[in-house]
Amino acid sequence: MKIAVLPGDGIGTEIVAEAVNVLNALDLKFEMEHALVGGAAFDAHGHPLPESTLKLAMASDAVLFGAVGDWKYDKLDRPLRPEQAILGLRKHMGLFANFRPAICYEQLVGASSLKPELISGLDILIIRELTGDIYFGQPRGRRTAVDGHFPGTEEAFDTMRYSKPEIERIAHVAFQAARKRNKKVTSVDKANVLETFQFWKDVVTEVHTQYPDVELQHMYVDNAAMQLVKAPKAFDVVVTGNMFGDILSDEASMLTGSIGMLPSASLNAKGQGLYEPSHGSAPDIAGKGVANPLATILSAAMMLRFSLNQPDAADRIEAAVQKVLAQGLRTPDIYSEGTTKVGTAEMGAAVVKALA
Ligand code: NAD
Ligand code: IPM
Ligand code: MN
Repeated sequence: MKIAVLPGDGIGTEIVAEAVNVLNALDLKFEMEHALVGGAAFDAHGHPLPESTLKLAMASDAVLFGAVGDWKYDKLDRPLRPEQAILGLRKHMGLFANFRPAICYEQLVGASSLKPELISGLDILIIRELTGDIYFGQPRGRRTAVDGHFPGTEEAFDTMRYSKPEIERIAHVAFQAARKRNKKVTSVDKANVLETFQFWKDVVTEVHTQYPDVELQHMYVDNAAMQLVKAPKAFDVVVTGNMFGDILSDEASMLTGSIGMLPSASLNAKGQGLYEPSHGSAPDIAGKGVANPLATILSAAMMLRFSLNQPDAADRIEAAVQKVLAQGLRTPDIYSEGTTKVGTAEMGAAVVKALA
């Protein structure tokens, strides 16, 4: 089982170190190879996704990724910015299906900014299309406006697009996932305004005819953003495009207590996967040893389940995480009165201990 370990920038290095300790504490044999990515790779090699890092990722059974980015790189030309590394990995590896499960562990009900009764028992799955939409559409750029409100002035533009097969394959992923859960899919769009998302809605509806046992609901993204905090437990599987999924999954993370609790799996058609927390490099807390490593540790569990065929080991990690939460250990982002505040390394070590 070959794992490419790409910690990246900021808290990425701190949280991935803990996930690696947890993997090493299992009685399994892994071949783990580390490589630079993001700003760290730019500093060392002049590129955020060096050829060698991409090659390593492509040749591995799975990739364990931390996070990339720092404000100090924001003035670089776009192709050199750290975020291009994760976008490039998603694109080159064809990682079109992004799973972001928002599960509120009972011990963390009090950590969320929402009322306990709204989130107690919450278990929803956001499935975000990850290689299309306005993130990758061409053309994009800057130019002098020839029309619009201010012709003759500088403007910027991006292209939102989805092809039929791109929508079909993510719809299949969503319906199949729902079959193993509560058999309900909410497809989130903006069909009332955008042609791309009218098309999305039409294609999802067409694919749904193959899944008569699954309920399909369509919802506009603005309403979905509201419903997610009003009645989150009314959702089961949410399927949506790249940009809406990015935004809604950050919102959903607060239903679990913290963005530091939301893992993710990004899969391609070959079953290869990249596993990363849904959050970023958190430059505001990087280097302080206070970042929550649980989203990354839970991402490692998803890796064992989806790419490495080790479901029992995945269960063990998830049980260990619940055990340390039950012990009352909390990084600052999930801290509440009456619990014990710990740092990144202490939290990771507690999970390792709980595995035993
Ligand atoms: P962020 O997710 O890094 O941080 C948002 C807030 O959440 C911050 O206050 C941060 O301290 C907190 N936070 C995030 N993860 C946490 C954790 N594990 N424990 C405790 N607190 C945590 O988002 P941002 O600040 O908008 O972006 C920072 C950088 O990260 C940017 O360069 C952005 O492009 C990049 N980014 C990268 C990824 C990725 O690599 N996949 C994802 C999102 C953002
Ligand atoms: C995420 C991040 C990325 C995204 C950025 C860093 C490119 O926000 O993984 O959610 O927008 O997809
Ligand atoms: Mn995001």
